Amino acid sequence: MPDSKIDTKIDSQTNSNTDSLTDLEISESFQPETKLVLALGDVQEILTTIPDRTISLIVTSPPYNLGKAYEAKVSIQDYLQSQLPILRELYRVLKDGGSICWQVGNYVHKGEVFPLDILYYDLFKQLGLSLRNRIIWHFAHGLHASKRFSGRYETILWFTKGDHYTFNLDPVRIPSKYPGKLHYKGKNKGKPSGNPQGKNPSDLWEILAKEWEKEIWSIPNVKSNHPEKTIHPCQYPVELVERCVLALTLEDEWVFDPFAGVGSALVAAVKHGRRAIGCEKEPEYLEIAKQRLIDYSEGKLKLRPMGKPIYQPTGREKVTQIPESWIQS
Ligand SMILES: C[S@@+](CC[C@H](N)C(=O)[O-])C[C@H]1O[C@@H](n2cnc3c(N)ncnc32)[C@H](O)[C@@H]1O
Repeated sequence: MPDSKIDTKIDSQTNSNTDSLTDLEISESFQPETKLVLALGDVQEILTTIPDRTISLIVTSPPYNLGKAYEAKVSIQDYLQSQLPILRELYRVLKDGGSICWQVGNYVHKGEVFPLDILYYDLFKQLGLSLRNRIIWHFAHGLHASKRFSGRYETILWFTKGDHYTFNLDPVRIPSKYPGKLHYKGKNKGKPSGNPQGKNPSDLWEILAKEWEKEIWSIPNVKSNHPEKTIHPCQYPVELVERCVLALTLEDEWVFDPFAGVGSALVAAVKHGRRAIGCEKEPEYLEIAKQRLIDYSEGKLKLRPMGKPIYQPTGREKVTQIPESWIQS
């Protein structure tokens, strides 16, 4: 049963698909005829309601077993064991040719680092999935470590179910660094060697986790100004998911985030005319997800525009100056 209905045309957000979402209905459980599902509860229970081979893209950032407010920290073996039945069910609901994008960082125990992508890799392989890319998501800011190098990337494992999978490169091309580069030999000598639509974004993605925009450089102690930030401790940027949605699915196909948090993946899916299912066990996060989708449909949600260049300091900003107390006389 839909629990909210919004009849609003999206018209003001960047990169948005204004034609495909004129009538946003949010269902609380999977309904084949709807476009958007926000299900409250445990992922394993909700998975039982989704038919086999329904989903084109599963994109998620699962709990990392770090003891965040929404998870109990257990041994790494128990953690992985608890994920196994979920992964099996995810495989079942994935279409042939569908993709899984599993975004993870590290589990850290007593200062020892366990890279979750390495640990997950075998589990996905055992299910019969094939890895297409191990994407490095690099961000410039974060916690400063004192006993190891500060972590500045996480990864996305992109697996497909079968070899005949969707990969749309054109919608996710990025501007070439040297569009004026020419072929220097052969029959195309003297002609541009690149693609006028831009280049392949590669498997190294520079997408902001926290924003340090121009206007805040002069304000001391303002650390994070990402326009999308909510109370959720581990949100990923909508832009990160948009790239997966555009490259790996077609319009009207189902995108599923089994650990939806505040709904970033659903916003990305809806923004590009895909159907979306999110499942989240914490009512507070699900409520925020719902509000973000409503705000999006009303053109009010603040999003970092896809492809917006990351601000590079000019060297004149106050925070880029060496403090006087550091300068030896
Ligand atoms: C890393 S966060 C994902 C955040 C999300 N990517 C976003 O942008 O908001 C993981 C989420 O999974 C939820 N979660 C953890 N275990 C769950 C379970 N068994 N069933 C459903 N949700 C779960 C947590 O409450 C948390 O919000």
